[in-house]
Amino acid sequence: MFVIEKLPAEATNLGQAVQEVADIESIVQSHDAWEYHALCDLLEQDSIDMLLVYDEQDGIDNAGKVVIGYCLYQVVFEQAEVLRIGTLPNYQRQGIASKLLTQLNKELQLRDVASLLLEVRADNAPAVALYTKHEFAVIHKRKNYYQLPYQAAVDALIMQRTYEDTP
Ligand SMILES: CC(C)(COP(=O)(O)OP(=O)(O)OC[C@H]1O[C@@H](n2cnc3c(N)ncnc32)[C@H](O)[C@@H]1OP(=O)(O)O)[C@@H](O)C(=O)NCCC(=O)NCCS
Repeated sequence: MFVIEKLPAEATNLGQAVQEVADIESIVQSHDAWEYHALCDLLEQDSIDMLLVYDEQDGIDNAGKVVIGYCLYQVVFEQAEVLRIGTLPNYQRQGIASKLLTQLNKELQLRDVASLLLEVRADNAPAVALYTKHEFAVIHKRKNYYQLPYQAAVDALIMQRTYEDTP
């Protein structure tokens, strides 16, 4: 069973959850993974929080809970930004990231946030498709933003979803 929760407040479970997220990052963002300590530093900021999806394998206690997806985000007054989102490969294409974005939308609307921004590589087709499905539109393109030696430069797309007209 998949359950979605905010990052736990209690230190032991928090540390374990952040470590599981760092482990997923190292798989799904292997060229630019955010490590455990970097994630911990970010999460010390009041404006930054994380939603997690667990696969509750036995549904009884934490021993059976495995983090399979995460969304790290920041809210500054009426503006929010998705900093990271990822799903463990074996669980991709099962609606996990959609669940995260739907939950995030609910929270942001309750907090009277006006818009949600993110940045994505133009060649990341799964992510661009995900965001388009969730009503994000490209509002800006940073030409040749991602540069690596011996590889063609890739544009960064800035995508935004607004909430003002959402009932
Ligand atoms: C992008 C990512 C988070 C999507 O996670 P996911 O849990 O597989 O996404 P979902 O199952 O909720 O997919 C929702 C929609 O996104 C789109 N989508 C997701 N993966 C896709 C793929 N591989 N190809 C095409 N469209 C895709 C589809 O529109 C899909 O809806 P559908 O399954 O009804 O067609 C996941 O592929 C991932 O972790 N990628 C690596 C990390 C990353 O790139 N993060 C974003 C950086 S900006």
